[in-house]
Amino acid sequence: MLDRALARVNHWALDTVAPHWVDYVVSNTMTDFNRWFNGFLWTYELKALVEQVIDEAPGVKTFVLRPNQHWRGFQPGQHVEVFLPIDGETVRRYYSLSGLPNGRFSITVKQAKTGKASGWMHQHLRAGMSLKVGHPQGRFCHQGQAKLLFLCAGSGITPCHSMVSALLVQPEAERPDIQLMAQFRKPSDVIFMQTLQQWAQDGLKVTTALSSLSADEVSLPDVSSRLDARQLKMHCPDLLDRDIYLCGPTGFMNEMIAHLQALDVDLSRVHTERFVLAEPDGASPEGFEAAGAEVFFQHLGARITLTAADQGKTLLQVGLDHGVMLESGCCQGMCGTCKLTVHEGQVSGNSLGKAVYLCTAYPASRNLVLDA
Ligand SMILES: Cc1cc2nc3c(=O)[nH]c(=O)nc-3n(C[C@H](O)[C@H](O)[C@H](O)COP(=O)(O)OP(=O)(O)OC[C@H]3O[C@@H](n4cnc5c(N)ncnc54)[C@H](O)[C@@H]3O)c2cc1C
Ligand code: FES
Repeated sequence: MLDRALARVNHWALDTVAPHWVDYVVSNTMTDFNRWFNGFLWTYELKALVEQVIDEAPGVKTFVLRPNQHWRGFQPGQHVEVFLPIDGETVRRYYSLSGLPNGRFSITVKQAKTGKASGWMHQHLRAGMSLKVGHPQGRFCHQGQAKLLFLCAGSGITPCHSMVSALLVQPEAERPDIQLMAQFRKPSDVIFMQTLQQWAQDGLKVTTALSSLSADEVSLPDVSSRLDARQLKMHCPDLLDRDIYLCGPTGFMNEMIAHLQALDVDLSRVHTERFVLAEPDGASPEGFEAAGAEVFFQHLGARITLTAADQGKTLLQVGLDHGVMLESGCCQGMCGTCKLTVHEGQVSGNSLGKAVYLCTAYPASRNLVLDA
C-alpha cells in the first residue's frame, strides 16, 4: 500500500519536475530519514522503478523501467548493469536496453536454465519494485553506415531491436538500408514477434530463421531454416555491401563468423556483442617479446611503444600504463566496454572475428593497429 503510494509520488515528481530540479531538491534534503523513506529519489545512485512486466514469449519477459533523476539517456544498442538482491547478496548482470517514450526504457530477459539472475527476475521482479542500475555503456551502436544487416539469435535480438527501432523513426531519406535476420529454435520462441511482423509490413526485409526446421520444410519466402552460408547469401544477396551487427549465443556467433568468412565478408565490418563470457583463451603468447612492439590506438591518435615492463600485460593495462585514455567496465571480458577492432596485426586471448576485448587480450605481433 505504502509502496504503491510512494511509487505514485515518485512518478508524479519525475513526470512534472525537470530531473535537475529533482536532483537539486533531493541533494539539499538528503537526510537519513528521507533516504530510508524514499530511497528511489533520495539517493546519489541511478535506480529504476519497474512499471510493467510483459510476457514476450515462453521464458522471455520484458521489464519496463522508469529511471530516477540520475538518468542521462543512452544510445540504442547499449546495455546497463543491473544489481539484483538475491539471497542476501548483490548479483550483477548486464542487459541491453530498448528505448521507450517519456524517458522510460525496457530490458528483455530470457530465463537461462538454472540461471540465477534471470530466474530471480522472472519469479520475483514485479511492478513497483526498484533496482539499482549502472549507467548505459557499450559500443554495439550504429556507427552511421548506409547499408546494414542485423544478424541475431535468441535474446541476441534485444540490442538489434533497440537499434532498428531507433533507425526507423529517422526521416526516410536519412534512414540506412536495413535488413534483419533473426534465428530462433521454433516459432513459439520468436521474441518481438509482433514488431517483426510490423517491420516486414512496413517494407523492412525481415527473415526469421527457425533452427528446428530443415531446408525442405521451409515454404515461406521470409522464413529460413537454420542459418548457414547458403541461407545468408540467398536471403541477403548484397551481403558484401553491408555492415553486419551480430549478436546471439556463443555457438551461433562462432558459426556466423565462420560462414561470413567463407563468404569473403570483411570481418572489420562485422560488429559484435557477446552475452556470455568466452572461455579464457590463454595469456600473453609464449615467445612474444613486448619490448619494442608498437600499438596504435587509431581512434585516439595514440601510438605507444611497449617496454620490457609491459611483458604479460593485457592490452588495456598496457594502454592505461602509457597514459592512453581507454574505456573499460567489468575488466572480465563480459561487458564489451573496452572492445576495439583489430585493423592490423594480431592479438591473443579474448577476441571474436576482428573484435578484441582489451581487458582480457594481449598483443601478439610487433605492430598492432586498433580502432573503435
Ligand atoms: C553486454 C551484455 C548484454 C546482455 N543483454 C542481455 C539481454 O538483453 N537479454 C538477456 O536475456 N540476457 C542478456 N545478457 C546476458 C545476461 O547478462 C545474463 O548472463 C543472463 O541473463 C544469464 O544470467 P543468469 O544469472 O540467469 O544465469 P547464470 O546463473 O549466470 O548462468 C548462465 C548459464 O550458465 C549455466 N551455469 C551457471 N552456473 C554454472 C555452472 N557452475 N556450471 C555449468 N553451467 C552453469 C546456467 O545453467 C545458465 O544456463 C547480456 C549479457 C551481456 C554481457
Ligand atoms: S569486457 Fe568489460 S571492460 Fe573489457
